[in-house]
Amino acid sequence: MSARNQNFISKPQVEGGPCDYPDALFQELHIFHPSPALQQLTGLLSETPVDLKKLGQAAQGDPTLAAEAVRFCNSSLFGLSRPISTLEQAVVATDADIVRALLLTCWLAKLTSHRVTAPESRVFWKHSLLVARVSRCINDWAGLAQPEKAFLAGLLHDVGTLPFLTLLSRVAPPGKQNLHENLTESIDFQRLHFRTDHCELGERLCTILNFPLLLAEVVSRHHQRIDFPSGFPLLSVVSCAEAIAQFHLLYTNQELTEEAIVTFLQDTLQVWLPGQTHPARLALLAVLKTDLLADLRDHGQSTRGGPHDSLLSTEVHSQAHGEADANGYSPGE
Ligand SMILES: [Fe+2]
Ligand SMILES: [Fe+2]
Repeated sequence: MSARNQNFISKPQVEGGPCDYPDALFQELHIFHPSPALQQLTGLLSETPVDLKKLGQAAQGDPTLAAEAVRFCNSSLFGLSRPISTLEQAVVATDADIVRALLLTCWLAKLTSHRVTAPESRVFWKHSLLVARVSRCINDWAGLAQPEKAFLAGLLHDVGTLPFLTLLSRVAPPGKQNLHENLTESIDFQRLHFRTDHCELGERLCTILNFPLLLAEVVSRHHQRIDFPSGFPLLSVVSCAEAIAQFHLLYTNQELTEEAIVTFLQDTLQVWLPGQTHPARLALLAVLKTDLLADLRDHGQSTRGGPHDSLLSTEVHSQAHGEADANGYSPGE
């Protein structure tokens, strides 16, 4: 462990005393208890069939949240063939689990914007969006899950990191930077120093927030190696995307040869998606390589103060700072 991390772990205090882990993190989950309106909406969306009339009435309990979910659904991130204007229409255009995940994302984005420092929030959503984008990309080629579900599962896969961020945004010494970098160094690091990890916290969070079952499975198990096809397809997709994103994070500021990136991608796809045909894997490899290389290049330009920023960063900036995209989506407002 680096001296920086040792220092970081020893410092956090709660009202004058050291944090007692993992209890302090389990207690932190209380701030994630859903509002009555969100509770009612997710409850209705978990019923089969969904009562659309009741859903419309329940949306009046938090019209701002409902409007944000509708804007998210209409954003370029989803690519609906025609715009929708109510939650009921969103259910018809997609499905109940997707609308439930949209509402939860918007609610969590708002909570994060109030309770997590802006730099940490930005890093969190940037990573989440990268995994979402790579998950959708992998899924487009592998055809394992509904595209929107692959995207949302990627977006919410690390939701268990949020209790770390809200707690440490409050109790870490002023001026301490890079909380997220320290926290996400590895799941082993979290277990060793906090006696829990973001998968365990995520599992608890999913129960509190009434996450759709498939997403909850991804949140709690995305660092476990699983065998395809006997495993769980959406989990394979997001786990593979997570591995790629972690590689991306590690090497963002380093000069990597194209050959090194291709070798890593080949190995990762083989581990997580061994059931793919050779042509499918080659096609996916080509897309991922282009995407990652572009993102690394754009990141290098932006960190050198150039005018360019990646599409990903732009999307995350909108998330974190409540700016509207071309279709009016701004979940952090
Ligand atoms: Fe993770
Ligand atoms: Fe992650």
